Amino acid sequence: MESTFDLERYLNNSQKVETRDLDFSRVRDYPITPQEIRCLSYMMDVEAHTVMYFKALLRTCAARDPEVLAFMSCWAYEEFFHGRAIRQFLEAAGVHVDAARVDHVRRQRSWRERIEESGAALLCHVVRDFQAVYLAWGAIQELSASEAYSVMARRTKNPILSELLQRMVKDERRHFAFYFNKARPLLRSRPAQVATGVILRRFWTPVGDGVKNDADVRWTMRYIFGDHEGMEIVRRIDECISKLPGMAWFNLMSRMREEMVGAAAGPGLGGPVLVRQGNNILG
Ligand SMILES: [Fe+2]
Ligand SMILES: [Fe+2]
Repeated sequence: MESTFDLERYLNNSQKVETRDLDFSRVRDYPITPQEIRCLSYMMDVEAHTVMYFKALLRTCAARDPEVLAFMSCWAYEEFFHGRAIRQFLEAAGVHVDAARVDHVRRQRSWRERIEESGAALLCHVVRDFQAVYLAWGAIQELSASEAYSVMARRTKNPILSELLQRMVKDERRHFAFYFNKARPLLRSRPAQVATGVILRRFWTPVGDGVKNDADVRWTMRYIFGDHEGMEIVRRIDECISKLPGMAWFNLMSRMREEMVGAAAGPGLGGPVLVRQGNNILG
C-alpha cells in the first residue's frame, strides 16, 4: 500500500526547530572537532541559501500548484531556522560567523547556479514535466540532508549538537516525504520519467554544489559518506529513490560517492578547515 503525505497536518504543525531548551552556554563543555565545524559551516550556508531556491521556484510552474506553494512556504521557513540554529551553535562553540556571510555566499555561488536560478521559469516551457523533475530532485536532496545530519548526530561527542541535529532530521524527513509522495503520481507518466531521467543524469549534483566551491563539496561528501557506513547510506538513498515510478535506474548518490571518495585532488579529511585565527570562518 502506498504511503501518503498529510499536507494539512504538516501545515498545521510547521514550526521552527526548537532550540530554546538547548543550553548553548554548555556547548564548549563538550568536544567539537574542526571537521565538525567545517561541515556545519557548509550546512549552515546551504540552509540559509534555501530562500534563494524558493525565490527561483516561485517563478516556475511549480508554484502554480497550491499544494506545492503551501508546502514551499513552510519549507523555506523551516530551512531558514535550520541555518539559524546551526549558526547559534557555531557561535556558542566560539566560531565567529560574519554578519554578511549569507550575502557573501550568495555572491560566491557559481555562474551555473545563477543561470539555473534565473532560467528556472523558462524550464516550464521547455520541459513539460518540470514539476516531476523538481519534485524528484527535491526528494533526493532532502533525503541526503536527513541522512547527513543523522550521520553527524551519531558521530559527534557533543550531546547538544547531537540533539540539535536529530531535531533537524525530523524536519528533513517530513520534507522528503512531501517531495517523494508528490513526485510519485506525476512520475507515472512516461514523458515525465524520461524528462526526469535525462535531467537528473545530466544536471544533478549533491546538496550544496553551486553554492559552495568544488573543494568544499568534495570535502563534505567525503566527510559524511566516505567511510563504509557512508557507502551503505548512499546505497540506501539510491534504493529508496529508485522506488519512484520509472526511476529503477537511479544510482546517482553511489556514483557521486565513488567520484568524491576516489578523487585524488583536493583536501583530505585532515586538510585545512574553514577555521581561521580566532575561530573566524569566512572572514
Ligand atoms: Fe534543512
Ligand atoms: Fe529540508
